[in-house]
Amino acid sequence: VAIDVPVPGRDQGYAVLVGEGLLARAGAHLRRTHEGAKVAIVSDTNVMPLHGDTLERSLTSEGFEVARFTVTAGEHSKSPAQLVELVRELVRAGFGRRDVVATLGGGVVGDLGGLVAATFMRGIGLLHCPTSLLAQVDASVGGKVAVDLPEGKNLLGAFHFPLAVLIDPATLVTLPDRELRAGAAEMLKHGALFSPEHFAEVAAAWPALARRDGPTLARLIATSVALKAACVGRDPHEQSSAGRGRILLNLGHTVGHAIEAASAYELLHGEAVGLGLLAAARVSERRGVAERANAQEGGGLEATIRAALEQVGLPTELDGWLHGPRAAALAQALEYDKKRASGTLAFIALTALGSPRVVSLTPGEILQSLREEPRDC
Ligand SMILES: NC(=O)c1ccc[n+]([C@@H]2O[C@H](COP(=O)([O-])OP(=O)(O)OC[C@H]3O[C@@H](n4cnc5c(N)ncnc54)[C@H](O)[C@@H]3O)[C@@H](O)[C@H]2O)c1
Repeated sequence: VAIDVPVPGRDQGYAVLVGEGLLARAGAHLRRTHEGAKVAIVSDTNVMPLHGDTLERSLTSEGFEVARFTVTAGEHSKSPAQLVELVRELVRAGFGRRDVVATLGGGVVGDLGGLVAATFMRGIGLLHCPTSLLAQVDASVGGKVAVDLPEGKNLLGAFHFPLAVLIDPATLVTLPDRELRAGAAEMLKHGALFSPEHFAEVAAAWPALARRDGPTLARLIATSVALKAACVGRDPHEQSSAGRGRILLNLGHTVGHAIEAASAYELLHGEAVGLGLLAAARVSERRGVAERANAQEGGGLEATIRAALEQVGLPTELDGWLHGPRAAALAQALEYDKKRASGTLAFIALTALGSPRVVSLTPGEILQSLREEPRDC
């Protein structure tokens, strides 16, 4: 499957390709535009030993000269020090303006290697080969690359659109189950925002996804990518006013980020986003943005989202974060977010599945809506 992601202001966008065995064809793909270039494979200590040889062989068999750069797996590698170190290693290895960075791994190496490509000699070509489900359906699409600062995540970054994104679902065979579930949270998010059908399908197809069924993975990953690509294509640089652009992709992230921070990163990002989706549904119902669940008939947005998270095996224990010491940490993280957004939080709510709406809420209002007892129970 090939999905074109338009980049307004450039003649051409970039292609996101989804298919089993694509990693072994990366060299043939890159040869069309970069014959004879040197390629820097940027990966981490988990992924390089598992999939590095496949990518390297595919590149060398098409005549590319390849150098490998392996960083320690984990978010802490998304640092300015690691960025500068990689750029210096490229200089020492004789890389030049026509050469290419190929990222191979999850969102960490995608973001880090992407920023290396964006900044080395003012920017060189970038090929993303994402290997975590989260990176395949989310991080590799949209052109955002960044490293973290002590003051917060992703604060030193750029928009640098890739030459192409090659998604090979076969790489997910080695991905730990917990990471697979975390990636599915972002797929549910894309469905909740733009396609109730996709939302239902991801939950229903979970057993097939969990056993890494190739055709099911390829189909649902491609749908998720297409939904995100359509959104970022409307607003490539995140400049659109509230409600029309990629700000919508923050669904589940206001409360999700706060829970992630309050958990001292004990929860994976996708797990926290799952709880954030539940929170968005509850706030939407209790503030009257979505129709309130009916106590007699049951159902409603929160119940639908909870059922999907349970099907996938993601955490659904939201209430534990709303009271006691954890709640204080959550409130603090929301306040911090508000300060960064200069005063108001653009909270992404849902009028129904597939129908997002941006509402302006204070952290206090969000917490109050989350804690309030349902009136009709
Ligand atoms: N640029 C964007 O638009 C964007 C969007 C969402 C998230 N992100 C960023 O992505 C990062 C999170 O991404 P992630 O969840 O992929 O984290 P990650 O890169 O840390 O990968 C998760 C773990 O899975 C391992 N792994 C990845 N692929 C594997 C495979 N095929 N087999 C075995 N192990 C494998 C990694 O080594 C790591 O231990 C965060 O830094 C986040 O800020 C960026």
